[in-house]
Amino acid sequence: MNNIFITGANRGLGLGFVKHYLNRGDRVWATYRNEASSLVNLKNPSCIPIQWDVTEPLADTEGTKLPDEIHLLINNAGIYGAKNGGQDLDSIEQQEMLQVFKIDAVAPLMTVKSMLPRLKKGRATIANMSSKMGSVADNGSGGVYAYRAAKSALNIISRSLAVDLAKDNINVITLHPGWVQTDMTNQTGLINVETSIAGLSSVIDNASSYQPGAFVAFDGTEVPY
Ligand SMILES: NC(=O)c1ccc[n+]([C@@H]2O[C@H](COP(=O)([O-])OP(=O)(O)OC[C@H]3O[C@@H](n4cnc5c(N)ncnc54)[C@H](OP(=O)(O)O)[C@@H]3O)[C@@H](O)[C@H]2O)c1
Repeated sequence: MNNIFITGANRGLGLGFVKHYLNRGDRVWATYRNEASSLVNLKNPSCIPIQWDVTEPLADTEGTKLPDEIHLLINNAGIYGAKNGGQDLDSIEQQEMLQVFKIDAVAPLMTVKSMLPRLKKGRATIANMSSKMGSVADNGSGGVYAYRAAKSALNIISRSLAVDLAKDNINVITLHPGWVQTDMTNQTGLINVETSIAGLSSVIDNASSYQPGAFVAFDGTEVPY
């Protein structure tokens, strides 16, 4: 039985991860911002909802619920930012760039920093949820400045974490979940949450077989940085 910590877990891919690891018999600390209904409705004592906006320090009352050892941290919480052309060259604003960067790139790093003793104790795997949209090599269509830049920054942060934490036997992997039917894609997308999670969880299980900080899609193929 492992201790799993998942951010942004009341819906979408985060909730998919929660269900997967509970089914496997693990204990899951699952964060939400305001709405915990999906987590509460699971009615599973092995699911511990933690209220947390990842851009803020964790409240002491929530921190006391955490385990001493974390075996898997999934930095899943993220935002896309403005949709429908709102991140085009002629519409992108400084505030939008900074807001997406804060949640998608800075928060995962600060989460690792704040959990470090627990992660070291658990010889954890850290999985950072990126996107192919953050791949420089894959960017043939331009635009989407805030989301692309933030995920690209997350990729290099993830790689630095992999290098820095190797001595502590912590594996770090960077993930691309595919194009998935969640709120972020307005339920469009090529695959459903269950398909994505089945693939991603298998990649996480095999994290040590990839290069440190490797960028890997849900189907196990490596994504170029
Ligand atoms: N869906 C895709 O096709 C796709 C593709 C590539 C990458 N991704 C990545 O996969 C991850 C999950 O996305 P999703 O598709 O499941 O999106 P989603 O359904 O929109 O869910 C996003 C999650 O992030 C949480 N979140 C956002 N800002 C937060 C903050 N400041 N503090 C704490 N939690 C916050 C949300 O919490 P609330 O419920 O409180 O808003 C929600 O749980 C994201 O990092 C996303 O970039 C998704």
